[in-house]
Amino acid sequence: MKSKGVSIIGCGYVGLCLGACLADNEKNKVEYNSTRSLFEEGFKDIYDKIYMVDINQKRIDDLNKGIMPFYEPGLEDLVKKNTDILSFTTDFEGSVLNSDIIFIAVGTPTDEKGNVDLSGVFNTVKDIGKIMKDYKLIVNKSTVPVGTADLVKKIIRENYSGEFDVVSNPEFLREGKAIHDTINPDRVVIGSENLRAEDKLKSLYAGFKINSFVCADIRSAELIKYASNAFLATKISFINEIARICEITGADVGQVALGMGLDKRIGHDFLQAGIGYGGSCLPKDNRSLIRTAGDGDYDFKILRAVEEVNKNQRELVIDKLEKNLGNLDGKVVGLLGLSFKPNTDDMRAAPSLDIIKYLKEKKAIVKAYDPMVKAVEGVDIVDDPYKAIEDADAVVLVTEWDEIRKLDFIKVKAWMKGNTFIDGRNCLSREYMLDNKFNYISIGR
Ligand code: UDX
Repeated sequence: MKSKGVSIIGCGYVGLCLGACLADNEKNKVEYNSTRSLFEEGFKDIYDKIYMVDINQKRIDDLNKGIMPFYEPGLEDLVKKNTDILSFTTDFEGSVLNSDIIFIAVGTPTDEKGNVDLSGVFNTVKDIGKIMKDYKLIVNKSTVPVGTADLVKKIIRENYSGEFDVVSNPEFLREGKAIHDTINPDRVVIGSENLRAEDKLKSLYAGFKINSFVCADIRSAELIKYASNAFLATKISFINEIARICEITGADVGQVALGMGLDKRIGHDFLQAGIGYGGSCLPKDNRSLIRTAGDGDYDFKILRAVEEVNKNQRELVIDKLEKNLGNLDGKVVGLLGLSFKPNTDDMRAAPSLDIIKYLKEKKAIVKAYDPMVKAVEGVDIVDDPYKAIEDADAVVLVTEWDEIRKLDFIKVKAWMKGNTFIDGRNCLSREYMLDNKFNYISIGR
């Protein structure tokens, strides 16, 4: 039987998690097919190779040794379990030629003004176009501005005159839950111009536990990704502003969010007030959508406010510290958690980076602990949470890692010099902390 391959260009978060999950899924399909009776329909297309392509030789060498480029729960095990199907390689040409589905999962960095750098995507498709000899389905997973798929088609056409399809299939996975989200997505969005492409992709994903497929035109699919992330960011900034009102009025944002979230139209998710959102997606996608609007002479006012509120949340930590400690010059501040959220070592747009910057500007002495992040320029990162809080005038809980939530706070109190504790994620019991004589300060309660 002829070998059938899928190529994934880009071994970053999206590409690697997708590849590992697809490989496992193909194995499950084979197993299922082998047990079905003559009358049951099995999976039609089985792919026996998933080519994981990257230009970074070191990354590929590491992956071949079983070393992951970042921490994501469950990923390493899934990769190791499926090394027979997964092929980590820098051989772009060989991989593309042996595949009939090619995913583009390269990075699309966005600058401060919201301009998206599409050179990775365009260079990749240019090379694909030059190599192609027969039909391929090209699937764009990278987050790209609306209209990019049309440009991708044009670039391929410049070098290839045969048949091909381009679909937009945006990724919605959350870091720290990436494997779960890839296998059990709330929805899979397929932006396509024809049924052939749609069916081919649906057939590849068969086996995943997909709640619903959203088959849309390509531009709508591209926009769904931005609109979703911008809406999530809006929800967070909204509850953070409600938290400000809670502080003014003496209400408790936790209780307010609970009461709001029970309305099914609102929902509980993303109503956790705190020091704001970070990560590789929400900040950049919000910015990029503001930019898309601006390019069309439309001012997306809500999203500009969402960004501003998010920036202010980080400054709020410094305000609260100054209110309680006075001048921060020479004061020792211990940070608990650095990554932009728990269960990841990702520091992209992490609130901790701004908090560190502001503290340094105020000449505070900063010590920090994070279960996964072991180096940040200019910060003394210690290997034990109690060392980060030892002799501290104040402690800021930045990331709500389980390990940090479960610290022995009586010991924390005893080891600190002062008693000011800022819970930037509202993740500890207010009563417990006050009972234990902390000057406990959270956000909006
Ligand atoms: C996000 C989207 O959830 C995902 O669908 C998209 O594809 C990529 O971006 P991710 O960046 O992994 O995923 O993180 P997410 O769990 O969404 O959290 C984003 C940020 O918001 C974190 O900094 C988190 O701490 C913060 N957050 C989240 C809040 O401050 N409050 C909340 O209620 C929820």
